[in-house]
Amino acid sequence: MSVANKGFSQRSAWAADQPIGYLMHKALAHPELISLAAGFVDQASLPVEATRSAATALLQSPDMARAALQYGTCAGDDLLRSQILARLRAADGTNAVEPKLEQVVLTAGSNQLLFLLAEALLDPGDIVLCDAPTYFVFMGIVKNMGARAIGIASDEGGMRMDALRVELERLEATRELHKVKAIYVMSSFDNPRAVSLAPERRPQVVEIAKAFSREHLVYVIEDAAYRELRYAGSDAPSVLSHDRACDQVVYAGTFSKSFSPGVRVGFGVLPAPLAAAVLDIKGNFDFGSPHLNQRLVSEAMRLGLYEPHVALLRDVYRGKLAIMLEALDTYLAPLGARYLRPEGGLYVWVELPASVDTAVNAPLFERSVEEGVLYVPGEYFFSHESGVPRSFMRLSFGVQSGERIARGVQGLARAIERTLG
Ligand SMILES: Cc1ncc(COP(=O)(O)O)c(C=O)c1O
Repeated sequence: MSVANKGFSQRSAWAADQPIGYLMHKALAHPELISLAAGFVDQASLPVEATRSAATALLQSPDMARAALQYGTCAGDDLLRSQILARLRAADGTNAVEPKLEQVVLTAGSNQLLFLLAEALLDPGDIVLCDAPTYFVFMGIVKNMGARAIGIASDEGGMRMDALRVELERLEATRELHKVKAIYVMSSFDNPRAVSLAPERRPQVVEIAKAFSREHLVYVIEDAAYRELRYAGSDAPSVLSHDRACDQVVYAGTFSKSFSPGVRVGFGVLPAPLAAAVLDIKGNFDFGSPHLNQRLVSEAMRLGLYEPHVALLRDVYRGKLAIMLEALDTYLAPLGARYLRPEGGLYVWVELPASVDTAVNAPLFERSVEEGVLYVPGEYFFSHESGVPRSFMRLSFGVQSGERIARGVQGLARAIERTLG
């Protein structure tokens, strides 16, 4: 029976068929598999001591403890919001734009922020322009609203600005520009490729969004989920820092990757009117994300426990990435695989010879399971509107040990060899 026959909403039908469901089912049904698919973070380095110290400090004073255990505000804890702004200022340099506290909204993970943004911006039929490939959960959110994600060509410097302009001009010519509500970019080590938006493209995306904001504002959503997971090279000022008027760019951040996904603390820095619209919706949704967790993260920062933890994570992931790249060089490169060598993030994006289809219903996927490995097929990261290449896969080095990463890549190599015949 279809969803509609059960009396469910149109939105629930739009939300159905999450691609990740099948992979999670496989992983649960075969716990022995080495999952290079899950985007989970490293287990051993989760901040147990820092969280214990922050919790102890927080609960020491009964007044502080009671405040943390009470409802917070819809926008979230003031101290954490100001700490976030201070860190952003430090990362973007002194010349950067200075967003105000009222522009910062704390959410239950940054995914909730993405969802609330979609609620605030998208009507059925509206359009969001994304990289091809892009974060598939975000595409799911767009679909959930009955809206469309259109993929823009993207290279090793992230979304191509010439292609973005061409697509906006095309949409203007077909009288669809009014449907374009946002351009979604992941500025640092994106998901799935760990590619960053080139520094020179960061002001350009703001200029282009402004130039095409003819009937209404076209927002730039800058998802910076992996910004702190940098293992080489140096950071560039955010896209947000190029929005001098503070009216066009939304910056989405999270403590999931840099601290703990279990605390579910994410945030957004939004143009003030959009922050107000998001808070209206959030008021209906939960009137505030878990206050205790926000206070915990804030306390860990106040006690000076956050920065050393991020430094430790960088060392851990730098090591795991090196192991994955070495295994790829040894086992997959000779089979004709090509891959990017990222400077951060949690993923390596692999392109196999064109004859190899990575889809779940193609032979390689089952053979990989037989060889004990799970990967994420590249097809999930592309919008069906914009063409879906078949020979890519995303590998994550986040959660597995170095030894299992190497073994997983060897298993993949065997599966590919069998598929190549
Ligand atoms: C690009 C990107 N954005 C946002 C998120 C959401 O993370 P969270 O809700 O844990 O903050 C993720 C999670 O993997 C992600 O990969």
